[in-house]
Amino acid sequence: MSAIITQLNYELKRFDTKHQEIESLFIGGGTPSTVEPILYKPLFDMLKPYLAEGIEITSEANPNSATLQWLKEMQKLGVNRISFGVQSFDKDKLKLLNRAHTKEQAREAVLNAKKLGFENISLDLIYATLGDTKELLQKDINTAFSLPINHLSAYALTIEEGTPFESKPYMSKETLELTTWLFNTIKEHKFMQYEISNFGTYQSIHNLGYWKYKDYIGLGSGAVGKLDLKRFYPTGIVEDYIKNPLDIKTEILSEEDKKIEQIFLGLRSCVGIKGDILNKDELKKAQLLVKEKKLTLKNDTFYNDDYLLADEIALFIS
Ligand SMILES: C[S@@+](CC[C@H](N)C(=O)[O-])C[C@H]1O[C@@H](n2cnc3c(N)ncnc32)[C@H](O)[C@@H]1O
Repeated sequence: MSAIITQLNYELKRFDTKHQEIESLFIGGGTPSTVEPILYKPLFDMLKPYLAEGIEITSEANPNSATLQWLKEMQKLGVNRISFGVQSFDKDKLKLLNRAHTKEQAREAVLNAKKLGFENISLDLIYATLGDTKELLQKDINTAFSLPINHLSAYALTIEEGTPFESKPYMSKETLELTTWLFNTIKEHKFMQYEISNFGTYQSIHNLGYWKYKDYIGLGSGAVGKLDLKRFYPTGIVEDYIKNPLDIKTEILSEEDKKIEQIFLGLRSCVGIKGDILNKDELKKAQLLVKEKKLTLKNDTFYNDDYLLADEIALFIS
């Protein structure tokens, strides 16, 4: 945590040239609920002068470590949105995903957050996992919506390097049919889909900030920051980060990189693509897709309604 403070000091100077205010704060991980709230205090004290009025402050939490006390103290620090990494309520699936919590702990954690007065409560579910069936996912969705949440994220399992699943690629199993059914089933609960993985009666300002290609400070080992056409990568080795939190690699992006990323992010979410970032040829293709009712055009912005087609459309346009 003190290494993070050292990096924050540095980053505030770096971003100060362009920005005066922080409009959303997100504590993610790893697992933030394994860290005692008192250890976050120096961070909040240092950030206080920069935090916008009514700012959205999210912390991720795991049901087995997010105790009532932990939630209460994080709330006192200013956290006003909790995102629980539930993944599933199914006993066997939780085991398959190596999750340490039970269905009951997950339910209790969400109810505790509500009891404390958190209005913005989200939970994550993972799908496209070996063994997934409509019955299993239906039960997960029913349990999720029996809880006081206003946001739900559903992620298709991806096989990441350096994780136990790397040697078990068969663990990830997606079918368009099941994914389409899942999205429709979540939307039946009046949760609007505002990005390929995100649904809610509430839309996370922080998540939207990324998809709107805003600048962001990325603190911590393995985090990523972005300022204009530069991305910053603090070392991903925790021990090295503690020794030198300013060991940060910089990636220079081109205007073309920026445009491609804005196209992908805009089509995967409700953000859309502004016409003025497209060149003549790309604009022609986007207008063709409007004629074919694959995109809608409003206020010079192209919007995609079928996020499952997003990457295909992005590749066609760019
Ligand atoms: C992306 S963040 C959650 C952000 C949160 N949904 C929000 O709206 O603020 C962390 C989540 O990523 C998901 N995740 C982690 N590893 C994953 C993997 N290999 N494949 C798919 N999803 C994964 C888990 O659901 C985890 O809880």
